[in-house]
Amino acid sequence: MLTVALPKGRLGDNVYALFRTHGYDCAAMESDDRRLVFADEGGRVRYLLVKPSDVAIYVEHGAADVGVVGKDVLLEGGNDVYELLDLGFGACAMCVAAPVGFREDLGAPLRVATKYPAIAKRHYAELSREIEIIKLNGSIELAPILGLSDVIVDIVETGATLRQNHLEVIETILPVSARLIANKAAMRFKADAMQALLTALGTPDAKGEKA
Ligand code: PRP
Repeated sequence: MLTVALPKGRLGDNVYALFRTHGYDCAAMESDDRRLVFADEGGRVRYLLVKPSDVAIYVEHGAADVGVVGKDVLLEGGNDVYELLDLGFGACAMCVAAPVGFREDLGAPLRVATKYPAIAKRHYAELSREIEIIKLNGSIELAPILGLSDVIVDIVETGATLRQNHLEVIETILPVSARLIANKAAMRFKADAMQALLTALGTPDAKGEKA
């Protein structure tokens, strides 16, 4: 049996729908209860529901064999896992955003508010730009409005949060989407089950669409 770490929330719902479409059905997952572990009806997969930022930790340590995680979380965590597939959904971009009309003072360190300090540091190191990181855990868009930072490094999906807070993208760092990741040992010791899952996810579903 493969253990799959699913991120709770909308991304997890999409992933579960993908697995179900490809033969890993689990009616119990559709029930609205507080369980965190579910088994599929064929007994091939056990699903764990975890916080999105914890998926790669479960997979790296072998508590889950595979998981689905945003590329943003994967890059930020730097976990030692295999990245197997770009699932194509959860598409958004990691961006630098600033108040509309922002002019950068190149004579001073740039104050960057973000949930993604590793990604922000790497980005500005490549530009040899001195920065000060202000690590926040959410509502990042508030930081430049209140003068806590000059810019933010954050995920932009529809752009609505930026627009409604009078901010705009000034640089796109990288595209982000959901990735299927695997534990390195499980790739060897559960090779057949892994291959069956990969084959299923890469096979056209009933509507003839590729995963
Ligand atoms: C994310 C991100 C942005 C927003 C972008 O926040 O940090 O704030 O979504 O989406 P949009 O471009 O479609 O507006 P999230 O909803 O995860 O909440 P958070 O502020 O608590 O991190």
